[in-house]
Amino acid sequence: METITKAQSLQGSVIIPGDKSISHRAVMFGAIAKGTTRITNFLPGADCLSTISCFKQMGVHIEQDGASVVVKGKGMDALQEPTELLNVGNSGTTFRLMMGLLAGRPFHSVLAGDESIAKRPMNRVSIPLLQMGATIDGRNNGTFAPISIRGGNLNGISYDSPVASAQVKSAILLAGLQATGNTTVTETHRSRNHTENMFESFGVNVIRDGLSVSVTGGQELKATNVEVPGDISSAAFFLVAGAIVPDSTITLLNVGINHTRSGIVDVLEQMGADLTIQNKRIVNQEEVADLTIKTSELTGITIEGEMIPRLIDELPVIALLATQAQGTTVIKNAEELKVKETNRIDAVVHALNKLGASIEGTGDGMIIKGHTPLHGGEVSSLGDHRIGMMLAVAGCITDGKVNLKLPEAIRVSYPDFFDHLKQLRAGS
Ligand code: S3P
Repeated sequence: METITKAQSLQGSVIIPGDKSISHRAVMFGAIAKGTTRITNFLPGADCLSTISCFKQMGVHIEQDGASVVVKGKGMDALQEPTELLNVGNSGTTFRLMMGLLAGRPFHSVLAGDESIAKRPMNRVSIPLLQMGATIDGRNNGTFAPISIRGGNLNGISYDSPVASAQVKSAILLAGLQATGNTTVTETHRSRNHTENMFESFGVNVIRDGLSVSVTGGQELKATNVEVPGDISSAAFFLVAGAIVPDSTITLLNVGINHTRSGIVDVLEQMGADLTIQNKRIVNQEEVADLTIKTSELTGITIEGEMIPRLIDELPVIALLATQAQGTTVIKNAEELKVKETNRIDAVVHALNKLGASIEGTGDGMIIKGHTPLHGGEVSSLGDHRIGMMLAVAGCITDGKVNLKLPEAIRVSYPDFFDHLKQLRAGS
């Protein structure tokens, strides 16, 4: 249990830890590349550590010391058949990207994870992989973990993905690298493009054409060094905290602002937040900047369509932000929230309404009526890191303390979260 009390103001700066999506990919691509990949500012959160341990089980030599990782890749063909289950813990990204990779490896493997993973749909990845010729099975006709894979010869496909999901897209592209001919994935809206960007850094030729991405099979990855930018999905909690806790000024350093991820910046600006973006630079094909947020008056907006994949992981904390805005905020087209680490529509509605918010859950999002003062109470992360951090930020503005159950879930993506929050409360 963690107790959070109202903050008078939040002041200071935080160096945002490494991006989770990019950290996973750096380890995976390093593991299947030839040569040594050095990763700096790696996120040593539980999810990314799961990716490292899965590759170690397949014989890849990886040294990790905090945020520094050295991966000694010997190429895709050097991966060995694991003798045990590959346990991804809570990490959907590890699970789904590994499915694509393992679909083309000539051995048997079984992917499994925690209780949350067992409830998340994996058929969105197995359906295209089966079309490519893979042999995959799992609970409920291949829908749920554990998923077993007997990798084999794959043929390239052209796949229209019904969901804008970077996990699905990346899994297909990883399989496509091992398939004959070309593999193309077309999305309904553009999802995060870190796989495409990093493939290019590892020497893979990627063809991007509107909402489609293609690779030709048989290309080898060449090791490279990866400097991971700070995770905008982690920064989001302090961006919202800075906007809603009175008299605050917070600077977040080294934040990845890749356009496919920066929907929260657009939303803050549209709601009237006082946000400044400085020191824009490019690191490994990824745009990075320092962000300063100050408390301000906010107004409700509608968030929908192509914006949704650009801020999907930030929607729980955006819902909190909207409780402090004047007027109504409507979130639409976000049915994907139901299949995240928890059903994030239900989780947000239940916990924030318990603290005094006025949020109605809908089939594909939420309707949030503001401005509502919030009060203390006992709430739970439900084992979902982003619900946990959102509620900890809520506790900074509640009259009366918030008792947060299962705060340890936050270790999945932001092990230093409470230390950084403490620093800002102390104004250092
Ligand atoms: C991720 C993609 C997103 C996101 C997840 C990380 C990735 O999931 O929610 O936290 O690293 O590719 P979907 O691809 O299912 O939208």
